[in-house]
Amino acid sequence: MKRIVLYWLILFIIIPTPLTWGWTLIAHPERKVEGGLEFLPLCPQARKTVQAPDEFLKLRNPLPPSPENIFAGQTLFHFDAKPGPCRVCHGISGNGLGILFRELTPSPRNFTCSQTVDPLPDGQLFWVIKNGSPGTAMPAFKNLDEDQIWQLIHYIRHFPKEDH
Ligand code: HEC
Repeated sequence: MKRIVLYWLILFIIIPTPLTWGWTLIAHPERKVEGGLEFLPLCPQARKTVQAPDEFLKLRNPLPPSPENIFAGQTLFHFDAKPGPCRVCHGISGNGLGILFRELTPSPRNFTCSQTVDPLPDGQLFWVIKNGSPGTAMPAFKNLDEDQIWQLIHYIRHFPKEDH
């Protein structure tokens, strides 16, 4: 009799439970866990950022999107950029949910939202990274040289998009 209870447990509880959890994750791939908390990234994301001057809007990224340039951008994004790495606000996966995002209004840009980010010209991103966005938490990265900013832009553009 006891053995029957054990078989019953294995068949209906021990085997199905992990399968159900696994299915929940597969069925909701947009759910991201950052800093142990689960949030849905904002998309489309309202954007009131000042427009860059015309001479910047015309600029195109002069560097090729080579693995080396994307890797250099990645290192700056996650670790080396000063005054602080982009990751703390824009998030490890670029979705705008970095560890500081709850303190910030307006929210950091969600680079995984193509509706909001794809229409922005390279020169707009360049200008904001160089000069910051006044009245927001987005700082000016004055000590990055031009190549480093273009490498960051290649990296930002390569985040997988998660529109929904
Ligand atoms: C302290 C937080 C913080 C850090 C660090 C930070 N950002 Fe931001 N960033 C923001 C916020 C907030 C916004 C939204 C600004 C706005 O709405 O105008 C933003 C916006 C942007 C934009 C959007 C520009 C546009 O026109 O929409 C880009 C590009 C950007 N950040 C790139 C970076 C890069 C690259 C780094 C690292 C080198 C970085 N950010 C570091 C907070 C941050």
